[in-house]
Parts: sequence; C-alpha cells; structure tokens
Amino acid sequence: MAKKVSKAVFPAAGLGTRFLPATKASPKEMLPIVDKPMFQYAVEEAAACNIKEFIVITGKSKRAIEDHFDYAWELEENLKSTGKNKILDEIRELSQHQFAYIRQGAPLGLGHAILCSKPFVKDEPFAVLLSDDIIDPDDRLLKDMIRIYNKYNATVLALQQVPKDEIHRYGVIAGKEVGKNIFKISDMIEKPKASSAPSDMAIIGRYILTPDIYNILEKTRPGKGGEIQLTDAMKTLLKRKPVYGYLFKGRRYDGGDKVGYLKATVELALKNPSLKAEFKDYLYSRVASIKEKEN
Ligand code: UTP
Repeated sequence: MAKKVSKAVFPAAGLGTRFLPATKASPKEMLPIVDKPMFQYAVEEAAACNIKEFIVITGKSKRAIEDHFDYAWELEENLKSTGKNKILDEIRELSQHQFAYIRQGAPLGLGHAILCSKPFVKDEPFAVLLSDDIIDPDDRLLKDMIRIYNKYNATVLALQQVPKDEIHRYGVIAGKEVGKNIFKISDMIEKPKASSAPSDMAIIGRYILTPDIYNILEKTRPGKGGEIQLTDAMKTLLKRKPVYGYLFKGRRYDGGDKVGYLKATVELALKNPSLKAEFKDYLYSRVASIKEKEN
C-alpha cells in the first residue's frame, strides 16, 4: 500500500530575476495577488489536502516568508482591541501550520533545492509545490494527484497543455494515456523547440515525489544553465520506475512571469466579493477606452 503524503516541500530559493528590481530585497513568493502573497495560496492548497508539515527551501532575502507565517502578537493584540475580528482570525490561521525552513546556500537549481529537503522528508512520499504556479483556489489539482499517487504508488507530475509558442519554456513529456487524463510517461525533454517537442503537454509546478528521487538527485550533474535540474533526475527515474502525469484542465497562472502575474491578479480580483463589482466596472470602461483609441 502507498504511504500517506503528509509533507509538502516549497522550493523558494530562486533569485526571481524576472521580477527585478521588486525581488532585489524581497522574495518573489511574497508578491501579493490581490491581498495574499503568492506563497500563501500554495500553502492553503497543500493544507486543503490534509498535508501537515510544510518544508520551505529558502535563500538570500527570503526572511519575509518566515515572518509571514510566524506568530505576530503585537498585530494580533491591535486587531483584537480594535475589533477587527475577521482579519484577526485569518492572521491567526497563518501561524497554525508546522513549518520547517531549510537554507539552500546557493541557487544551484530546482533539483538541488528539492535535495535540500532530504533530512526532513526522509523516506516518505512528498508533494512539491512551486508557489509561482498559481492554481485557481476553486479548481482541484493536488488532491487529484494524491489520489493518483495512492492508486499507482508512483511519482505523479502535473501536466497542462500549452500553446506552441510557449512550449520552449517548459519540460515537455511523451506518454500514453492509461486513464482519464492520466498518462504513463515515456520520455521528457527540458525546454524543447516547438518543432521537436514530443507533445503539447508541459510539466507544471506540482509534483508528488517518492523518496528514491533523492539518491538520483545526489548523482545528477548540473545540466541546462549549470543548474541541477529536476527533469534530468526524473529522466533517470523513468528508466527504473513508472512515472505518471496528470493532465490538469483547470486554471493556472504563471506568477513567475509578469503577464501571468497580472492575469492572476485580474482573475482573482474578479472573484473577490468585496472588489469584483467595482473592478469589473473599471475593466469595462478601460477596455472601451482602449478600443476607442484603436479605432
Ligand atoms: P524559476 O525557474 O522560476 O527561477 O524557479 P526563479 O529564480 O524563481 O525566477 P527567475 O526565472 O529568475 O525570474 C522555479 C522554482 O524553483 C525554485 C524557485 O524559487 C521557484 O519556486 N528554485 C529555483 C529554488 O528554490 N532554487 C533554485 O536554485 C532554483
């Protein structure tokens, strides 16, 4: 029987160069989408899957992540005395989870970041969430991936179909459908040209990994960009064990990219009960004025 997935690893030690200068002294993961940092969406997604232990891989200038999930008694006292009970409850909720922080000394790649979690994860399966891939909170992804892991007792990667002109930004898989939206992966290529991509299914930032990935990562040499790539380790794993992909049909925003970040902000603002009416009116008038100028 498959062991239970009760730990999640959040690699957050990247430099976030696409968001400079905003990310010079502040973590990319703390950029807000409406009123919550990107990182919090990912933590809430994992918590909704009954994950109890949260392991964050941090690096330089990432202290704000730790502070965000810490107990903030002064703030809590202030909110209590001013009767702001709703937000007080939300703030309290943040410090309820169990977090462990591991420092990745240098940003040597996603594969290396995951390897840093080995002493905390030990011999259990675990989820990996890249918080800059924002999954719409009303759509299910991680829950379905855990269900698939439980069925096959094997590694599960999240996949999404991406347009041809974006495929070069992703790891892309070849595979055979073995169940509804479930693929047995036969190969994967990191950042292929559109003409040589084996499919239009890209690996996105959610994974259920088994602990055997650690031994492989330990032996994986730096690949593209001089970084220890998770995709390279996965390719080695593929030769030894089955690896599955789950094709996600819901809404995902690439929060590591400026346009993706803006799309996430607009979409989640349109869902926010206290903002949506006013924001929608603004968007209508803005679009109308853009169209008028173009004609
Ligand atoms: P990205 O490729 O998005 O890199 O990393 P980045 O540094 O965050 O951003 P850009 O491209 O420079 O703008 C994907 C994920 O892997 C983590 C990042 O924090 C992000 O969640 N990562 C990457 C690490 O934790 N360590 C690394 O060495 C590299």
